[in-house]
Amino acid sequence: MWCADNPRGLHDHGECVQAGRVVTILNEPGPGVVTDLADDVMFTNPFPTYANLRERARVAPARSTQLLGGEGYMLTRYDDVMLLHGDLRFSSDTMGRNDSWLLRHLPRMFRLLADSMVYKDDPDHARLRRLVNKAFTPRMVQEMSADIERIVDELLTGLAGRDTVDLVDDFAVPLPLSVISRMLGVSAADRDQFHTLTARFVAGVGGGSPTSFIKVVPTARKLLKMIEQMADERRRVPDQGMISALVAASDDGDKLSPDEVAAMIFLLMLAGHDTTANLIGSATLALLEHPDQAARLRDDGSIAPSAVEELLRFTTPVPCGAARITLDDVDVDGTTIPRGSKVLGMIISANRDERIFDHPDELDLGRDPNRHLTFAFGKHFCLGNQLARMEGQIAIRSLVQRFPNMALAVPRDQLRYKPIQSLRGLRSLPLRLH
Ligand code: HEM
Repeated sequence: MWCADNPRGLHDHGECVQAGRVVTILNEPGPGVVTDLADDVMFTNPFPTYANLRERARVAPARSTQLLGGEGYMLTRYDDVMLLHGDLRFSSDTMGRNDSWLLRHLPRMFRLLADSMVYKDDPDHARLRRLVNKAFTPRMVQEMSADIERIVDELLTGLAGRDTVDLVDDFAVPLPLSVISRMLGVSAADRDQFHTLTARFVAGVGGGSPTSFIKVVPTARKLLKMIEQMADERRRVPDQGMISALVAASDDGDKLSPDEVAAMIFLLMLAGHDTTANLIGSATLALLEHPDQAARLRDDGSIAPSAVEELLRFTTPVPCGAARITLDDVDVDGTTIPRGSKVLGMIISANRDERIFDHPDELDLGRDPNRHLTFAFGKHFCLGNQLARMEGQIAIRSLVQRFPNMALAVPRDQLRYKPIQSLRGLRSLPLRLH
């Protein structure tokens, strides 16, 4: 048996019982044992399990909604996750190579998403990325900095009069949602409805089960209709926002089709808010649990860039990217992953690999070097990394400086993670601010 609460590998869990600690006993992860990413411990504290897998099963059998509901493999070492993101034998085209009935009969909204650049290889991926790069430019992101400062300030001012808040609902979610809809150019009149539908959609698909998909179809339809109307409006009357830039983006005469524009807006909206919201929520909890590190940032806001890099590594809001499918047999350290297998690169584990990071389970806001893989690597490297970094720096620095005495308003063991395997984030984070 394996005690998942032990930070490093196997031990006699009788010790834990005697010490009065809660013991989580799973089948010992290792060669031949399937790790199920739906297990509660893989949300609450997956790190001991990954530490064991890095040592004992570099290619670990896994079950996950991320593996399109089925079984496949996980890679958990840093070098192996790099391999998955950089080696062309690992294809992102899992949708094109999946001819399941379910996929062919998905409602249009889901089919558009399944057709987005996340699930494409070159040359299709390179084409879409070139076109979106014309609209989502570093300059556009940089120009958002003053807006982000202002939105953060407004949100924190709104919280200041209250004694207890839910940091997730009251700050971590509304900030990136406001930022991305402002960047896209969603009009003030549409913003509330757009936020509500997006939040409902994300919460609805979170379960990953066929019934949760079916339930969310009406919301998905409304959202798609809204996105298409906004794109049509920008075709007629262009403005400075990113929807207009996507509609106009052209590369040697090649343009995005109306379906591709809708899929891209939807992808940016989804990828652009829950990820960053989870970063802000988990980072705040990490700082509450490491008051010495919170004090470093509070006393010297200029360390915000390295602080956020470390919080990105330590919390890893996207535990793994999309599944890849092997186009050939791939040998990893003597184990063959057969052709046609679905494989996940566990970034959350790579970011704690002791071969790369000194004392990986420690939070050190000055860590240097810090070559985390939180935004992945290679062709699918996160398009929004600069924006997420900027939001994280402004939000987390402002929060710790504005509320130096904030503290958890509930016992730590009452906090729960969302049951979404593609993202790691708290459902809520009740705080006392003063
Ligand atoms: C803390 C916040 C974020 C994290 C941890 C994160 C993480 C990631 C990761 C790991 C990937 C690679 C997926 C894969 O290879 O399968 C990715 C891709 C992507 N991200 Fe992010 N992301 C964040 C924020 C954002 C934001 C703010 C945006 C946009 C506004 C964004 C847009 C995208 C897009 C469009 C892709 C697909 C890129 C491609 O396929 O070429 N992300 N992100």
